[in-house]
Amino acid sequence: MADTFLDKAYDTVGTEATRALYADWAKSYDKEISENGYATPGRCADALKSVTRDFTKPILDFGCGTGLSGLALSLAGFKTIDGVDLTQEMLDRAKEKQLYRSLRLSEPDKGFTINSGEYAAVASIGVIGAGAAPIDVFDMIINALPSEAHFVFSFNDHTLKDPSFEANVNAAIAANKAKILVENYGDHLRGLNMKSKVYVLEKT
Ligand SMILES: C[S@@+](CC[C@H](N)C(=O)[O-])C[C@H]1O[C@@H](n2cnc3c(N)ncnc32)[C@H](O)[C@@H]1O
Repeated sequence: MADTFLDKAYDTVGTEATRALYADWAKSYDKEISENGYATPGRCADALKSVTRDFTKPILDFGCGTGLSGLALSLAGFKTIDGVDLTQEMLDRAKEKQLYRSLRLSEPDKGFTINSGEYAAVASIGVIGAGAAPIDVFDMIINALPSEAHFVFSFNDHTLKDPSFEANVNAAIAANKAKILVENYGDHLRGLNMKSKVYVLEKT
């Protein structure tokens, strides 16, 4: 297991190193992740579904990667999904799945932000935390969302070991920026016995 991308991922820090990791991983990501029983996208999609009334409103899959998260959202019934990702090679794989309305490259160093008010929900599945995006992404999304919009995201066990990620969520709740609709802990990568916490927040 020492040479798998999954092993490398959790030690990767910084935008350029993260982009390089996923550029190399893009071709084999779906196989490696699926072989390990990737459960978080389905759990996130089900959690978002449980609080959604209108499935036609546009939602954003932020950090869509190769589209496994978009696939789970689509299977849960969401009809209009845009994708954003840091890594062009991951977006190229996502495009092949033909389930996104649009796909866009994010450039965090150039002050990338989501279009405020455009989305009824944002999903960031397997994205924020160890091996991917910094917690600033959480703040950017929660600040950009319109009132009553939903934000579903996950923190895996590696990320939960650093208390600052959950502290950031709790600070947003305490500041009355959002309320928690769903919070549950369950399977992340079944084959590795790794778990994740899934949240759905509603913007205040
Ligand atoms: C573990 S993958 C998850 C992909 C997909 N959501 C899934 O569930 O399979 C993490 C993704 O986050 C992207 N990513 C990392 N940092 C990011 C950032 N700051 N902004 C946007 N995407 C980012 C990576 O390029 C990668 O595709």
